Amino acid sequence: MDRIMTKPPFVESSWTKRDQKLEQTLRPQSLKDFVGQPAVKEKLEVFIGAAKQRGEALGHSLFCGPPGLGKTTLANIVACEMGTSLITTSGPTIEKPADLAGILTNLKEGDILFIDEIHRLNKTVEEYLYPAMEDFTLDLLLDSGPQARSVQVKLNPFTLVGATTRMGLLSAPLRSRFGFNCRLNYYDSDIVSEILSRSSSILSVEINSESIFEIARRARGTPRIANNLLKWVRDYAQMRNDNKLDKIATRTALEMLDIDFRGLDEMDKRMLEHIIDHHQGGPVGISTIATALGEEATTLEEVNEPFLIMQGLLKRTQRGREATKLAYQHLGKI
Ligand SMILES: Nc1ncnc2c1ncn2[C@@H]1O[C@H](COP(=O)(O)OP(=O)(O)O)[C@@H](O)[C@H]1O
Ligand SMILES: [Mg+2]
Repeated sequence: MDRIMTKPPFVESSWTKRDQKLEQTLRPQSLKDFVGQPAVKEKLEVFIGAAKQRGEALGHSLFCGPPGLGKTTLANIVACEMGTSLITTSGPTIEKPADLAGILTNLKEGDILFIDEIHRLNKTVEEYLYPAMEDFTLDLLLDSGPQARSVQVKLNPFTLVGATTRMGLLSAPLRSRFGFNCRLNYYDSDIVSEILSRSSSILSVEINSESIFEIARRARGTPRIANNLLKWVRDYAQMRNDNKLDKIATRTALEMLDIDFRGLDEMDKRMLEHIIDHHQGGPVGISTIATALGEEATTLEEVNEPFLIMQGLLKRTQRGREATKLAYQHLGKI
């Protein structure tokens, strides 16, 4: 088991150990430092506070939302606030019931088990998880064939924290076993600015509010992207502008990344252009678009589509994806 890090949705190739370390440094450790998402914070405060007062393990919790919005951060915060350990794994890593049994039987009372990408758990493993979540028991099958017998193992009370980018892919029985369930939304640009101010002081980057705003509005409402852009702009200023991070240097650095003022990256633009130029604005199925662009349909669905829909540039209908009038305007197609 290892700490799972997803790649940032841009500058794919430069996701290095150094980036991972920086992401850890910037990750808020307490609810107080977690910026924005007031409704989520308030609910968590109540949920955590009540469990602590009763001296019980926290109820199972599920965080969903697009990549980079703070799901892993919240799992860490839950463990810090509860004063317990966090054990991290992910859906695709748990291949067999035995893998799950190994993890569950090692949990100590109150431990937080974080399963990232929980929608990718396979069906068999998922069924073993139900009694573990409900009664803290695990039914193990010993031997096979006529010798087979099942034994019930008692587990220490633990908390399962799940994260998913695709709530719709989670089975109803699994979803219903989480007592706490919340969705993270894209952040407004003023909140992203607040996150950037916090990050710049942690990284000792001197940056004015105008430059912060330039970064914030291109960050797709996503803290991870905001932090990555900040690091890029800092690198640019160091190499090309005598370490001075003024508005012009910030803009020039950001323009080099091909991100427009709305935060659309190259793949967002190609996706909209494809729908407009080759399908008269749609509707067109996601797999058709994915094949034409040479991208995974799941990436388009998890990363690009939610942002484009939120921006009012794309519509999802039963017959497929449609570009909106705003998309035509934004791309200068009318
Ligand atoms: N609400 C927030 N306040 C401050 N920083 C945040 C917040 N949410 C996310 N971040 C930053 O963004 C980075 C990515 O967040 P993460 O929790 O890994 O996203 P996810 O797991 O949803 O993909 C973290 O390292 C953290 O620094
Ligand atoms: Mg994560």
